[in-house]
Order: sequence, then structure tokens, then C-alpha cells
Amino acid sequence: MTAQPASSNIIWHRATVTRARREALNGHRGAILWFTGLSGAGKSTLAHAVEEQLHQRGYRTFVLDGDNVRHGLCKDLGFTPEDRVENIRRIGEMAKLFIEAGIIVLTAFISPFRAERERVRSLVEQGDFIEIHCDSPLEVCESRDVKGLYKKARAGLIPDFTGISSPYETPQNPELIVNTGTTDLNSCVRQVISELKRRGILEKV
Ligand code: ADX
Repeated sequence: MTAQPASSNIIWHRATVTRARREALNGHRGAILWFTGLSGAGKSTLAHAVEEQLHQRGYRTFVLDGDNVRHGLCKDLGFTPEDRVENIRRIGEMAKLFIEAGIIVLTAFISPFRAERERVRSLVEQGDFIEIHCDSPLEVCESRDVKGLYKKARAGLIPDFTGISSPYETPQNPELIVNTGTTDLNSCVRQVISELKRRGILEKV
């Protein structure tokens, strides 16, 4: 990843409509809820279920989901370590824009590498990045195999498959761990919402 833009002839334009003004208009602050975990751990399901609850309560939200983003913005990327790094870099920058828009953005990407997750955390202000580890054992994800990908990976048909032939680096200090392998969806949603309340993310501004 390059720290500096490739061109030196670009100048940052400061918006008069600031994040604070957008948040005031929305009535709440922006934040990134970063769901990470193995394929099949339930990241997307949980992110969408949390979004549903927040939306019903009047919060402006958006879910960025691995499979969907890879159909568009990231459709040029595969699953080599380099491509995953670039995938998360782009998502991180996009999530930051959502924060600037005063929106609660929920991201559901495997995001297997600790360094990349920490890089996204460092892009935003302290307290803006809530890392939620969807902790489901590989055996559970594999037994669910909703998309049939584990079976293919075991058969050697998918290279670099997370948990099989590519690593997943467990978060060391996430804001929240949800046992999505054993806990039912409604309880997982409640855990996330109460953690968000505890951290002041849902306070009205
Ligand atoms: S990430 O590693 O770059 O964060 P991302 O979340 O975007 O991955 O995409 C993961 C999804 O792509 C999985 O849920 C699965 O449906 C699909 N997929 C296809 N190939 C692979 C692979 N080699 N490893 C993991 N997931 C894969």
C-alpha cells in the first residue's frame, strides 16, 4: 500500500458541510461496525440483522458485504494475500467516507489479516471503529457450508481458502466477540446493540 498519492498535483478540498453538521442532521454519530470472521461464520447475517434493528430505530445505516462488493468495486481482486490486502484497503477507505457522511456503516468481510484491520482502525478517530469478531469454529462453518465452498476447497478446487489453505488471524483485542457458531441470531443482535449503547454509539446528537 502506498502512503502517499501517486500524483503530487492534487490538493485536498475542505467541505463546508462537515461530518459534525451531517451527524447533527442525521441525529446520531457515524461509526464503523467491522464484522470479521471465517466464511460462513454469520457476518453478513448478523450485520443485516443489526442494521434492521438500527434502521427501525431511526439510524442511518449501510451494509458493505464481501460477496457484493466483489461484484463491483473489487471485482478485479481475487483471494491471494495481496488482493485481500487491497480489498480491505478499499473497503476501509470507503467505510471512512460513510463515517464522514455521518452514517453507521456495517462491514462484513472475512478480513483475515490483523494488520489490515488495524490499518482501517487507524484511518478513523478513536472510538469510531468497533471490531466485532464473529467467532464460529471452523468445524461449524464447514458443517454449515451454505455456499458449498468448503467442500470445493477441501477437494482442492479453490486455492487460498480461508481456514483451509489461507490463514485467519483471530482478533486479539476486538471491541466485541460474538459466538455466532453457538448463539442464536436474536441473542447475537442483542449483544451487538447493547455493546453499541455501552460505547455511546447510539446516543442522539
Ligand atoms: S477477504 O478475505 O478479502 O476479506 P471477502 O470477505 O471479501 O474476503 O470475501 C469472502 C467471500 O468470498 C466468502 O464469504 C466466500 O463466499 C467467497 N470466497 C471465494 N473464494 C474464497 C477464498 N479463497 N477464501 C475465502 N472466501 C472466498
